[in-house]
Amino acid sequence: MPASIQPGDPEQVRDLFDRIAPAYDNLNDLLSLGLHRLWKRQAVAWLQPKPGDRLLDLCCGTGDLALVLAEKVRPGGLVLGIDAAAAPLELARRRARAQPWLPLEFRQGDAAATGLADGWADGAVMAYGLRNLPDPAVGLQELRRVLRAGARAAVLDFNRPADASGGTAVFQRFYLRRLVVPLAQRAGLEDQYAYLERSLERFPTGSVQEELALAAGFRQARHRLLAGGQMGLLHLLA
Ligand SMILES: C[S@@+](CC[C@H](N)C(=O)[O-])C[C@H]1O[C@@H](n2cnc3c(N)ncnc32)[C@H](O)[C@@H]1O
Repeated sequence: MPASIQPGDPEQVRDLFDRIAPAYDNLNDLLSLGLHRLWKRQAVAWLQPKPGDRLLDLCCGTGDLALVLAEKVRPGGLVLGIDAAAAPLELARRRARAQPWLPLEFRQGDAAATGLADGWADGAVMAYGLRNLPDPAVGLQELRRVLRAGARAAVLDFNRPADASGGTAVFQRFYLRRLVVPLAQRAGLEDQYAYLERSLERFPTGSVQEELALAAGFRQARHRLLAGGQMGLLHLLA
């Protein structure tokens, strides 16, 4: 692993998530004070999953959202989780094995090139994934392609504040540099979590995400701020 992980480099990003997988869930709870669950619930609320739906969790990681969604599509539905990295997927499969009644599948693959048929999904989520793709525009195009017309999708991630010198951005830098990196350092994952701030520097702002989504063919795209502007939830309608 090079000293500085390059955002947008698929191999380095995959290695990063393989490396942090064992600590990922605990650090997520600690660094967000458990609030990531609340934000993920808001993504699920937009999706309105129902029994029989075929849903996608792109960049599913250890499967948080896939597990919640699988409970809601029973009976008759399916949730497919896709992630590029093997280690988080292994943890997701382990969690799914503890609830064998859930209609869940996990697959290693690229969220920007899923290989699924056009219109395969009745809905999709992508949490903290879009920022990690080499090109978010391509990720949104693939997301639109795999959704049937009328389907909903929710893309949750850190928000990149439009004003880099405003209070929201100042707080975000403080949080990432003074809290996230030092806490991750205790787990030996300093560089892996320092990547977060660098990945945000190349991430589109909410209004640009809306533009990219409309250009990708979504009928509606609305970016909502969460957690005082620290997070963003992109509501999409195909
Ligand atoms: C920050 S984690 C988010 C995991 C999970 N969605 C969550 O919210 O807890 C980002 C995930 O995206 C995955 N990822 C990065 N690039 C990807 C790609 N091109 N295709 C699929 N997954 C990718 C990583 O392996 C990692 O598991």
